[in-house]
Amino acid sequence: MSTLEIKTPAVLIENLDKYLDGKQVLFGINLSIGTGSVFGFLGPNGAGKTTTMKAILGLILPDAGTVSILGDSTLSNETKEKIGFMPENTYLYKYLTGREFLRFNGKFFQISDIDLEAKIEEILHKVGLDTVGDKLLGKYSKGMLQRIGLGQAIINNPSVVFLDEPMSGLDPIGRKMVKDLILELKKNGTTVFFNTHILSDVESICDSFAIIHQGHLVANDLVKNLDKPLEEYFIEKIHENTEGNLEVR
Ligand SMILES: Nc1ncnc2c1ncn2[C@@H]1O[C@H](COP(=O)(O)OP(=O)(O)OP(=O)(O)O)[C@@H](O)[C@H]1O
Ligand SMILES: [Mg+2]
Repeated sequence: MSTLEIKTPAVLIENLDKYLDGKQVLFGINLSIGTGSVFGFLGPNGAGKTTTMKAILGLILPDAGTVSILGDSTLSNETKEKIGFMPENTYLYKYLTGREFLRFNGKFFQISDIDLEAKIEEILHKVGLDTVGDKLLGKYSKGMLQRIGLGQAIINNPSVVFLDEPMSGLDPIGRKMVKDLILELKKNGTTVFFNTHILSDVESICDSFAIIHQGHLVANDLVKNLDKPLEEYFIEKIHENTEGNLEVR
C-alpha cells in the first residue's frame, strides 16, 4: 500500500478499536481523509463500515484510539454545526412530510426561517422530490426515503458530510443524482466520506478509498493509484486477507 500524504485531514482516525456485545468489531483502524476530497469506504456486509462511521460521529464511543473531525477530537457544537450525516436508514418520522422533515432537521442549525425555507425548496429540487414535498414519509418509497435522507444531510451546508450507502435502493437516475450531488459538494470544498458497495461509483467519483474486512483495514489508497479495475483489486484484497494474516499492508 502506498502512503497517503494528506496535509490537513478533515477526518483523522488513529488506532480505533471497538467492541460490540463483547466481540471486537474494529481493530486498530487508521484513516486520514483530506479536506475537500471524496472518500469511499468499502467492505463486505458486516465488515465494520457503519460502526466506524458511528464512532467518528461520536454516536458510539471508541474503546481505544482517537477520532477527530476538522481537527477537533472533542466534537464541539461548533464542529457539529459543520457536519452532515445520512444514516443507513432514514425511516424515522413517518408522520412528517418531506418538507416538514427537512424543516425539523434544519431547525437544529443556526439558520434564519427565511433562509431555511429557501434551502428546503433548493434541496427538494436537488434530490428530485419537488413534487412530493408534502407527502408523508410513511408513504415514500425506499428510494424516496434515501433521497430525503440525503437532503437532510446537507441542509446545514456542511463542511464534512458522512453518507452511509447513499446510492443503495436508488434507480439509475437517483444514483446519477447522488453522484452529481457529491461532485457538486466537492466542488464547493465539502469533504465527503461515504460507505458503499458500488465499486464503479468509487472509481468514478472518489479521490481515495479504503477497504475494511472483518474489522481490519486491508487497503487504503488513492483511486488514481489503482492499476487494475477496483472489482479485481477488491476481490484480491478480501481473498488475501480472509485466512491468515489480517494486518494492514
Ligand atoms: N448494535 C450492535 N450490536 C452488536 N453487534 C453489532 C451491532 N451493530 C453491528 N454489530 C456487528 O458489528 C460488525 C460490523 O457491523 P457494521 O454494521 O459496522 O457493518 P457494515 O460494514 O456497515 O455492513 P453493511 O455493509 O451490511 O452495512 C458486524 O459483525 C455486526 O454484526
Ligand atoms: Mg453498514
